[in-house]
Amino acid sequence: MKNCFLVLCAAFFLFVSSNPALSSPLKRYDPATKTCRIFTHATLWEGYKVFVNNCKVCHHRGNKQGAKFLYTESKVRKGWNRVFAERYPICAKNGSWGNLSKEQIARLNDYLYKNAADTYDPYDATDCG
Ligand code: HEC
Repeated sequence: MKNCFLVLCAAFFLFVSSNPALSSPLKRYDPATKTCRIFTHATLWEGYKVFVNNCKVCHHRGNKQGAKFLYTESKVRKGWNRVFAERYPICAKNGSWGNLSKEQIARLNDYLYKNAADTYDPYDATDCG
């Protein structure tokens, strides 16, 4: 009986940990570089800083540059990946992304992907210290 319980626990754990809808992934396939990116809290924090210091300079509420207000939930995961894979925004083409390195852009993409629309999960424990 006890073994049966353990098997059920193991099966449940495998189900939860292998189901991307139930566990928030800390990795992402990056269409821009065609690699699998694994991120940590430290690298996500870097991505957050790139966003605040480079993108939010224009994309804040009430800005005078004519840029839409943008935050992580402005797009779903696929949408953010497309922004960086195709670099379609005008600001990516006109040099407003500054001198960001490839790695900084990838970390920014990781951060936006991780916190994109429809990803909030109150049972996700990855934010626990
Ligand atoms: C110098 C100002 C400026 C900076 C800096 C800037 N942008 Fe933009 N961005 C604009 C303007 C202007 C547009 C065109 C109007 C619009 O769609 O918001 C735009 C458009 C966009 C769009 C298209 C809007 C949409 O809803 O799809 C995205 C995405 C975007 N920017 C992302 C970024 C990211 C990511 C960064 C930082 C790496 C950034 N921008 C930095 C000015 C800026």
